[in-house]
Amino acid sequence: MINIDSNPKTSLIDSFGRRIEYVRLSVTDKCNLRCFYCMPNNFKDFEQPEHWLTHDEIIRVIKAFTELGVARVRLTGGEPLVRKNIAELSKRLTALPGLDDLSLSTNASLLDKHAYNLHDAGISRINVSLDSLHPEKFKEITGGELQPVLDGLMAAKQAGFSPIKINMVAMKGINDDEFEDMVEFCIKHDFTLRLIETMPMGATGEDATNHYIDLQTVKQQLAKRYELIPGVMPGGGPARYVQIKDTELRIGFITPISQHFCETCNRVRLSVDGTLYLCLGQNDKVELRPLLRKGISDDELKTILIDAINIKPEKHEFKEKPEQVVRLMSMTGG
Ligand SMILES: C[S@@+](CC[C@H](N)C(=O)[O-])C[C@H]1O[C@@H](n2cnc3c(N)ncnc32)[C@H](O)[C@@H]1O
Ligand code: SF4
Repeated sequence: MINIDSNPKTSLIDSFGRRIEYVRLSVTDKCNLRCFYCMPNNFKDFEQPEHWLTHDEIIRVIKAFTELGVARVRLTGGEPLVRKNIAELSKRLTALPGLDDLSLSTNASLLDKHAYNLHDAGISRINVSLDSLHPEKFKEITGGELQPVLDGLMAAKQAGFSPIKINMVAMKGINDDEFEDMVEFCIKHDFTLRLIETMPMGATGEDATNHYIDLQTVKQQLAKRYELIPGVMPGGGPARYVQIKDTELRIGFITPISQHFCETCNRVRLSVDGTLYLCLGQNDKVELRPLLRKGISDDELKTILIDAINIKPEKHEFKEKPEQVVRLMSMTGG
């Protein structure tokens, strides 16, 4: 007899009472950029293609999740747009009953040519990483060119994505002179801005933490120039929002280090090789690929997911044990 709650909406409640309704789905660990805080410049140790979950396997796992109450999925990576046929996969995902929201995190450098198809496939919300508006600084941070990213953003606007959120990792000595420029850029283009604290992940963790800024200080800095009023953002996730008075701009502060938000965590992460990670900042995981390829039934798969949620840790320990997460951010997609 399998242990699936008769009400699927309550099936994925972890041992701390948090309901899991959101999966971040990493469709590749590869990326066409090399943000220094995310992936080492010379990194080559990517997952073997035969270990990538196929589209069919992805659909099978996400279908099981939706039958257990997951309503939201975000495509991430690595850079999700380097995976082939991503629009086709998106279409299959949005067709799953119960999946209300499919979103995308991207560096936008390939978005110019994909924007229309992705929007057509049913993705409505996108997050775009953009840490600098200066081409040389952008190159220093990412190893790539700024212009294709700006082109991608404009294509996304034209295709009808809304909201478009800019994710800016705040870094001391790198882009801490650009917060106000980014605010103005987002007001001008009707984007939402989200500032993110650096997190210690994998071999690049030290680089990331060397440039750490507590976002409370950035908020104080912005408050000197702008009148900040409390802001709300539907589906805002872990960000705490303010709005700039007399504008539509909302600014979200994602503060995993200075003010963690683990008590409201509602998500798990599936990596390209089919590993289910229960927490971004811990190593607890369940390897689904061997089980899928061994031929487990759909009911067995659901039982495994329910059991996995039961071992979801209470919180990350980025501050207490910054060295413990050895995998790169690009493996789980943030
Ligand atoms: C790993 S990327 C994957 C999706 C896509 N390639 C992108 O850049 O948006 C997801 C997010 O993680 C963030 N990120 C990567 N490494 C980080 C770190 N060490 N600390 C904080 N954020 C990080 C990126 O800035 C990006 O916003
Ligand atoms: S943050 Fe995104 S764009 Fe930058 S290296 Fe990581 S996966 Fe690539």
